[in-house]
Amino acid sequence: DRYIVILAGGIGIKFWPTSRYHKPKQFLDLLGTGRSLLQMTFDRFRPYYDNRQFIVVTNTRYLPLVKEQLPELADEQLLVEPLRRDTAVSIALASYKIKKLNPNARVLISPSDQLIFNEKAFFEAIELAMEGARESGNLVTLGIRPNRPDTSYGYIQYFPEEGKPVKKVKTFTEKPDLSLATTFLESGDFVWNSGTFIWKNKSIIASFEKHLPEIAEVFEEGEMYFCTENERPFLKKAYSLIKNISIDHGVLEKSDEVFTVLGDFGWSDLGSWQNLYEVSKKDEKKNTVLGEALLYDTENCFIKLPKDKLLVVQGLKEYLISDSDNVLLICKLGDEGKFREFVTDAKKID
Ligand code: GDD
Ligand code: MG
Repeated sequence: DRYIVILAGGIGIKFWPTSRYHKPKQFLDLLGTGRSLLQMTFDRFRPYYDNRQFIVVTNTRYLPLVKEQLPELADEQLLVEPLRRDTAVSIALASYKIKKLNPNARVLISPSDQLIFNEKAFFEAIELAMEGARESGNLVTLGIRPNRPDTSYGYIQYFPEEGKPVKKVKTFTEKPDLSLATTFLESGDFVWNSGTFIWKNKSIIASFEKHLPEIAEVFEEGEMYFCTENERPFLKKAYSLIKNISIDHGVLEKSDEVFTVLGDFGWSDLGSWQNLYEVSKKDEKKNTVLGEALLYDTENCFIKLPKDKLLVVQGLKEYLISDSDNVLLICKLGDEGKFREFVTDAKKID
């Protein structure tokens, strides 16, 4: 009765210019393993789940990529969104579909952009979370101990109950500003939301009804079109009416039925070049070079080059150089927050 829902419809702008609209980061082999982040996500769950238990939610634009990269899945396991409406809407689509398949299902929601270094510990945390999710209404997230005031995550404050592996959440703050994130970090009773969620399908549907009734209404009405030839036209219309909202802002910040299991499994959200640099192999000057380069007096740089190019660089510190297709980007490493502006001005996102 378990389903694994993989969200694979984001655009990965902080990996521009390698990540593009037509092929965003989840479809790229960013680590040089021969498998894309989406495939790595699938591979991680595969030993524990049957192929039929997977559902991938993606955008119509990326359907061919998902089919190519995950040939193990049947067409009906791929849910196709006509427009990008963010994670609350993707999760609602999956939840209302699953409701039709098995009203008593338990569901794990997984992003397609994270790395897990200790899979054994990861699955132990999932089992604890599955237990915690038995109780009706409970929405369980895996929490990660923060080590820096990163503003790209959700911050979860929990009630520190000794001996209880599933902790009740006091507050959930999605992407706080730097000063708030610093306060949270220093206070010590906050964890990051890892973006992996575990719940009974009934619990999340009840939460949609309570916190995002406009979305619940649309999908409830559309249920009769699911798995018929009218599904596509229905989704097209529904998505054009629904506004963008993430599960974090739309449900988790509002709900008082959120729980967290502290996970210590070595986690990285590959959100940006900076994150990739952190987990990459480095030379003795702390440079990561994907490609061929001669470096002089250069430290703490992340460099990614196309096959046929030799880069010669002197005197560079803490920079990102990414040469991909028709764009060469040179930028302070860690300044990915500015990418939205770069991409808008460059008009080369496709
Ligand atoms: N199908 C679909 N449709 N998938 C989407 C959409 C969409 O419209 N938008 C995003 N996704 C997918 C992304 O591809 C990614 O795998 C996952 O959903 C999460 O979305 P992100 O856009 O990467 O979210 P985030 O990283 O900014 O924030 C979330 O993850 C953090 C941890 O990595 C939040 O849940 C934070 O609270 C959390 O800390
Ligand atoms: Mg992310």
